[in-house]
Amino acid sequence: MPNRTKPRNRDGQTDGHGRRSISPEPHLARTGAEIQQFGSLRLLPVALAAEARMGSCQILNEILADTMILYALYKKHHWLVTGPTFYQLHLLFDKHAEEQQELIDLPAERVQSLGGIAVGDPRHAAELTTIERPPNGAEEVPAMIHRLLDAHETVITKVREAIRRTDRNEDWGSNDLLMSGILRRNELQVWFVSEHLVDVPLVGDK
Ligand SMILES: [Fe+2]
Repeated sequence: MPNRTKPRNRDGQTDGHGRRSISPEPHLARTGAEIQQFGSLRLLPVALAAEARMGSCQILNEILADTMILYALYKKHHWLVTGPTFYQLHLLFDKHAEEQQELIDLPAERVQSLGGIAVGDPRHAAELTTIERPPNGAEEVPAMIHRLLDAHETVITKVREAIRRTDRNEDWGSNDLLMSGILRRNELQVWFVSEHLVDVPLVGDK
C-alpha cells in the first residue's frame, strides 16, 4: 500500500520525511500538454470585454504575421539586391529589416497583454500572412522594390482597419500602439523605399 500521509514531489520522490528531495540534475526531455490554445483568451484584469480583446488579438496576430514576413522580405532583398545602387539599398533594406524586427515585438506582446496567444513560429506566420510569396531566386531591383511596397500596403491596410476596430471597442492601448508605433514606421519606410523608383537627374537637364 502506498504511504498517503507523506507528500510526494511530481516525480514521486521524497526524502523519507515527506519532504521533496532536491537533485542537481536538469529535468530534460520533458513533454507536456498545450496549456492554452491559439485563439483562446486568458482572463487578465485589464477592464476590457472579452469580445473586444478577442477582436484585437485576431487582427494584431494578422499584423504580427505580416510583419514577420516583411522583416524576412527585407532581409532577402538585403542579401540579393544587385547593380549600381547595391550598397545604398543593401544598407537601407537592412535598416528597415531591423526596424521591422523591433515592430514584431509590439503586436506580439500586446496580444499576450490581452490574454491571447501571439503567433510565434514563422511557419504559423506563413499560414496567416496575405503577403504574396516571392520567388526563391532573385528578381530585378525594381521588382524587389515594388514587392516591398506591396507588402507595406498590405500591412498598412490592416493597421488602418485595426485602428478603426480598436477605436470602436475602446481598446485604447492597442489603438495607440497601432497608430504611433506600427502605422507611422511603415509609412516612413514606404517613403524611403518609394524614392528609389523616382527617375530624376542628379544635375542638369535630362
Ligand atoms: Fe547583412
